[in-house]
Amino acid sequence: MCGIVAYIGKGQAYPVLLKGLKRLEYRGYDSAGVAIASGGQVQVFKKKGRVSELEEALTGREMEGHCGIGHTRWATHGEPSDINAHPHTSSDGKLAIVHNGIIENYSQLRQELLNKGHRFQSETDTEVLIHFVEEVRNNNRCSLEEALRIALRRVVGTYVIVILDGDHPDTLVAARKGSPLVIGIGNGAHFLASDASPIVEYTKEVVYVNDYEVAVVKADELILKNSSNEIQTPYVQKLDLELAAIEKEGFPHFMLKDIFEQPRTIFDCLRGRLDAAHAQLTLGGIRNHVEALKEADRIIIVACGTSWHAALTAEYMIEELCRIPVEVEYASEFRYRNPVIRKGDILLAISQSGETADTLVAIEGARQQGAIVLGICNVVGSSLSRLSHEGIYTHAGPEIGVASTKAFTAQLAVLAMFALKLARDKGSVEEGRFRELLTGLEGIPARVETLLEQNGKIAEIASRYRDSRDFLYLGRGYNFPVALEGALKLKEISYIHAEGYPAAEMKHGPIALVDENLPVVILATRDRFHEKIVSNIQEIKARKGKVIALVTEGDEIVPSMADETIRIPEADELLAPMLNVIPLQLLAYHIGVQKGLDVDKPRNLAKSVTVE
Ligand code: AGP
Repeated sequence: MCGIVAYIGKGQAYPVLLKGLKRLEYRGYDSAGVAIASGGQVQVFKKKGRVSELEEALTGREMEGHCGIGHTRWATHGEPSDINAHPHTSSDGKLAIVHNGIIENYSQLRQELLNKGHRFQSETDTEVLIHFVEEVRNNNRCSLEEALRIALRRVVGTYVIVILDGDHPDTLVAARKGSPLVIGIGNGAHFLASDASPIVEYTKEVVYVNDYEVAVVKADELILKNSSNEIQTPYVQKLDLELAAIEKEGFPHFMLKDIFEQPRTIFDCLRGRLDAAHAQLTLGGIRNHVEALKEADRIIIVACGTSWHAALTAEYMIEELCRIPVEVEYASEFRYRNPVIRKGDILLAISQSGETADTLVAIEGARQQGAIVLGICNVVGSSLSRLSHEGIYTHAGPEIGVASTKAFTAQLAVLAMFALKLARDKGSVEEGRFRELLTGLEGIPARVETLLEQNGKIAEIASRYRDSRDFLYLGRGYNFPVALEGALKLKEISYIHAEGYPAAEMKHGPIALVDENLPVVILATRDRFHEKIVSNIQEIKARKGKVIALVTEGDEIVPSMADETIRIPEADELLAPMLNVIPLQLLAYHIGVQKGLDVDKPRNLAKSVTVE
């Protein structure tokens, strides 16, 4: 996902832009660049590769200017290259733009501009956009702000745009539709960015720009206008983000920090909501839809990737406790297959970033058909939180590693509370079972802490299997989505092919893969399927497969059969996924690190897929 940062103020822009781009690296990118306006000139520096390479190339250069824009690009139109990197400039070189999103009708606009004599250097939709704004301004002899508003009426797609003008280096103009834009209010300065991470060290006062709004930003003035050109009063919010939350704090990688934060992040997720001592659960974020939920005759859950695995786990929880049919949908499929949605249907949308394009479009479609949309998200003020009728934040803090870890366990904690609260409201769960699960949930953070003590042992296991070509992950019941998640983590971080499967499905095909070169990670923690899992292990061992087994502490049967054993503290099977996924996160992390890969920014991946 692209990242945008911009500055206008009394200080020098370049240092703010450079540090801001580094804070945005976690989003995934392939090139970076900056543009600075001063004295009627616009200087643009951009190149393929890391921000550090851009910084090195600019060492010793004169980077004076109080107005600048910066960008990390994740290629959509045009391959990663210096020329396709942002910022892009207008024909006369006076305007420079950075953009996150996709202009879907850029080809038509490009042809129109070519017919008018424009020439393009790059393959990007963004360069077309800045030429179009230039054309509109010249034809209408209007301000840059007005030209942008007029131009955007013809643009089809999603965007966050920031433009600077060499002839007016005291002003930045910005706009958004479908992707987030945050404006930090400093002392005689304003900071614009795709999220709060480049802003938090300068100010905690922020404004989230709304869709279709245009912002005109000076050092000490912020004007917001809606699509009808009416001035809007900026709604200033207090950031609840700390700088420490986006620093590594001594960990070698953000991913390991995210993993080790999980005892606290799960605790933070439960805090103020779960009171096991008094058998109380409070989910204020969905308080206006309690009756609708109780009366729902089905619940649809849409998500992507890791969030979809959380959705699958929620299906098992909700159906067991609430006896409401649940349909889990890949958002990307749901949005296109013209699903049957009836007024009053409950649609749960799960997303860490709250900016995943497929999930957002799925929500919009469902709302239009009368569904009640409840969002489960990790980012306050995200697009998903604004599109939902109500929702529940996971409070896992900024997840910097591209691979989702702490957000996943926080999602599971929220979904367990959601299912328990709904079951209590419906009277579909016995009081004893309700209290047992509340107490069990309250005890999860401490059990995660215990599990993390096996980090060194898991690193050793990783060293024995890191050169394998394929992995198979198997689980039953609540452990099936965990198997899928473990396989995804390994794929993302180590680039090793891995498949997650329901353990019983192995005999329907995948068992043909089993031989002495195939490590099989099997979730064999104590639950109602334990005996059957033991049989699956025997089938694997009979074919010389290597078994890496996760077992409940005290189990002596499985360790006697497995090649590797990871012991998990006792937990109810409904809650066990929050524990069982931890060793799988660490296994993927250590294999990735031992293979010398960039575990925080894996190749080809973005932290949030804000484009289709
Ligand atoms: C998870 O490790 C991946 N980074 C990816 O599958 C991710 O879960 C997916 O893109 C959904 O993202 P979201 O939760 O922000 O919507």
